[in-house]
Amino acid sequence: MNIAILGYGKMGKVIEEIAEERGHEIVLKVDEDIENYQLDKAEIDVAIDFSVPDAAFKNISSCFKNKIPVVCGTTGWLDKYEKAKKICEEEGTAFIYASNFSLGVNVFFELNKKLADMMKGLPEYSVEIEEIHHVQKLDAPSGTAISLAQQIIEKYPDKKGWQLDHADKDEIVIHAKRIKDVPGIHTVTYESEIDSIEIIHSAKSRKGFALGAVVAAEFLQDKKGIFTMKDVLSSLFK
Ligand SMILES: NC(=O)c1ccc[n+]([C@@H]2O[C@H](COP(=O)([O-])OP(=O)(O)OC[C@H]3O[C@@H](n4cnc5c(N)ncnc54)[C@H](O)[C@@H]3O)[C@@H](O)[C@H]2O)c1
Repeated sequence: MNIAILGYGKMGKVIEEIAEERGHEIVLKVDEDIENYQLDKAEIDVAIDFSVPDAAFKNISSCFKNKIPVVCGTTGWLDKYEKAKKICEEEGTAFIYASNFSLGVNVFFELNKKLADMMKGLPEYSVEIEEIHHVQKLDAPSGTAISLAQQIIEKYPDKKGWQLDHADKDEIVIHAKRIKDVPGIHTVTYESEIDSIEIIHSAKSRKGFALGAVVAAEFLQDKKGIFTMKDVLSSLFK
């Protein structure tokens, strides 16, 4: 498979390493305004975008307009997600966005939904989320923490949204900490006066995200439509 890497920073470099290990070729690396590059469908099977929040939408839509499927892991641009989906559908190509591509986190997501389903009937427990990342991370809270909050909100009829640091009673609070060299730690805590229950996912390196993104790219080539990591996992476990 021929891959274009959009965003050649910390993640882009690990994606290159993993993609080459899996026998793919990197035919284009973009690390600045995409307008300076030629996007040729004949040469690129899939693009993988791990760039910056301000660039992601332009990168993704430029690929769609050239009929190139996109795997996107960039966080902090989701106000334009519906627009991106529409362009993808209009152009008849394919798209996967995930706030977190690691296999372990996607298992953690399923655990989070299951736990919220059990805890929603126990009003004595309050719920909160904490995420810790390296100090260079541009957005807060992390896309993964937002996904965790949304999964809980779907289960709790009285929760209307989430907020960073301070939340009203009908919201979930997310705490975001920035500590040198931490690839990503997410904790969901349910607390009552009697006890507390915690589930934690701790990434040891960026390799898990990169592997998930390359596996998602393998899944996406020759497909049309909008997919999620759940579709990718189902295809692996069938
Ligand atoms: N979904 C996931 O699993 C996952 C995992 C890790 C990181 N991320 C996200 O991926 C993104 C990148 O993370 P990182 O740690 O590699 O950051 P990074 O800062 O190391 O890399 C970003 C790169 O994008 C480049 N860039 C700037 N403008 C660009 C443009 N217009 N087009 C293309 N590239 C451009 C920068 O020069 C930089 O090299 C962030 O949004 C981060 O939150 C997602």
